Amino acid sequence: ADALKVGIAGLGTVGASLVRIIGARAKELSITCGRAIEITAVSARDRSRDRGVDLSGITWFDTPDAMAQEADIDVFVELIGGAEGAADTSVRAALRRGLHVVTANKALLARHGMEFAALAEDKGVLLNFEAAVAGGIPVIKALRESLTGNKVSRVYGIMNGTCNYILTRMEKEGLTFEDCLKEAQRLGYAEADPAFDIEGNDTAHKLAILTTLAFGTQIAADQIYLEGISNISIEDIGAAADLGYRIKLLGVAQRTESGIEQRVHPTMVPRDSVIAQVDGVTNAVAIESDILGELLMVGPGAGGDATASAVLGDIADIAKSRPGEQRVPVLGTPAKALAPYVRAR
Ligand code: HSE
Repeated sequence: ADALKVGIAGLGTVGASLVRIIGARAKELSITCGRAIEITAVSARDRSRDRGVDLSGITWFDTPDAMAQEADIDVFVELIGGAEGAADTSVRAALRRGLHVVTANKALLARHGMEFAALAEDKGVLLNFEAAVAGGIPVIKALRESLTGNKVSRVYGIMNGTCNYILTRMEKEGLTFEDCLKEAQRLGYAEADPAFDIEGNDTAHKLAILTTLAFGTQIAADQIYLEGISNISIEDIGAAADLGYRIKLLGVAQRTESGIEQRVHPTMVPRDSVIAQVDGVTNAVAIESDILGELLMVGPGAGGDATASAVLGDIADIAKSRPGEQRVPVLGTPAKALAPYVRAR
């Protein structure tokens, strides 16, 4: 079969990892996928920056929009970030052009996911976003595929690596909040604007995506009760420890008698629970459903390679799909048929 031609918009931490991995694993990938995966186009702001990866032979586009509209590609991979601007316009253009899209952008999906899902469904293309939630943990696949037929009652977990890294190091090493945050930024875990991490918005974006998949409701990120970790002090962590608890920033979505409740806030979890022992940049997502019971997935939640691993899995799915095949629905229920709202308290 012909090679799958991939265009990557955004060459930050994740984009650079992805280019490196696809280059290093070219042979293995062509065997597993039954066809080669070839990066034919990239787009990033600074052309002269040394990213430590080989970009020779790849067509450079100055804007993601130009790449989405003109590049000779089958798949548009969006790793730019942000809910508006270039990420939004280029993904829209790519879908309208009938390209498959892979994105790691939770903010974008939390804002425009319904619209993009409907566009992808119309065009019969795949819109894959495994990397948007909990980094390398295959939680989207679990909800979208593995748990088919299950009725989900609750989804919750640690979904922001930066916050969990900060809380862990504050507790275990007595470091200040600011120093831990700086280190998380240096390691490439934090968002471009780390306020999204520490104020809980990033967790809320991810939770909104999980909610729609788990409960078949519309994305309603603006209805999530939201509280971040910026007010958590070492004293709070110590007081919780004295009582036998650790503090974790959790996102929780659950079925209640009055609708689907969604919330993000620091939570005291019993020290001997599995989730309390999830340390550092690691994420954990628990899904409670009626046929399977409780599923808990723990793994790397942020960083270049962990996120690139999920993006690559999404690209491989497309490589293996037949032309015109679409995974319907993109979200929990075909986008156009979704219930009108999610109740949040
Ligand atoms: N800033 C995010 C985090 C990146 O720390 O979890 C992964 O989505």
